[in-house]
Amino acid sequence: MAIGATVRRLFGPHERTVAGLYRGLFVDVGRLSSLIREWMPQAEKILEVGCGEGAVTEQLARLYPNADIMAIDITPRVGRLFNGNRDRVQFVETTIQAVAATKPGQFDLIILSDVLHHVPIALREELLTAVHSTLAPEGRLFFKDWERRFTPIHWLGYASDRWITGDRIHYLRKQEAAELIAGTFGPDSIIAEARVRPWNNNFAFLVQQ
Ligand SMILES: C[S@@+](CC[C@H](N)C(=O)[O-])C[C@H]1O[C@@H](n2cnc3c(N)ncnc32)[C@H](O)[C@@H]1O
Repeated sequence: MAIGATVRRLFGPHERTVAGLYRGLFVDVGRLSSLIREWMPQAEKILEVGCGEGAVTEQLARLYPNADIMAIDITPRVGRLFNGNRDRVQFVETTIQAVAATKPGQFDLIILSDVLHHVPIALREELLTAVHSTLAPEGRLFFKDWERRFTPIHWLGYASDRWITGDRIHYLRKQEAAELIAGTFGPDSIIAEARVRPWNNNFAFLVQQ
């Protein structure tokens, strides 16, 4: 059972701060966002898939002040903690498959950050295929996930993901993620890769269409 939403409500007006501090234990969201900007300096239409409550979306809105941003998630809490200008940012509770059907080839930057380990293994290829068909011909996917490693921080991350979110999570090795992406996007589609502080478990790929 997921205990996250119940526990977090107890923090009342401090929930946003606590959520940010908690996320910062595992990944430096500021560094993650500046890496996106370094790899993709220009983007006009951005889609964030699995945006959660909007922590990364908030950084995207700041770093791409002229872009239109669509941020989607399957949770009804989509975008709930976003604190920024919503004029150019649209949060929608929907699936990437639905977006792929209505807006094929429309986004020049898609972000998929810490989502794939929440998606059942049997459904990952279908999700990536939908991402692929939603990207514009010269578009880029920024993919980020957490690599499985047998270290204390990994087990802490696993426990919090498993019991706070309630999802049946399954982390990949970096190589497994690369193979999955190559299977959908093509053998030479990963054009850059990096680790993101503070833990080497955090890895990111820039993927071309
Ligand atoms: C750990 S959160 C990551 C949130 C945000 N992307 C970030 O990096 O801060 C994982 C999110 O993936 C979402 N998710 C899981 N399966 C999904 C799917 N099939 N499609 C879209 N979002 C999904 C969950 O609802 C959750 O909000």
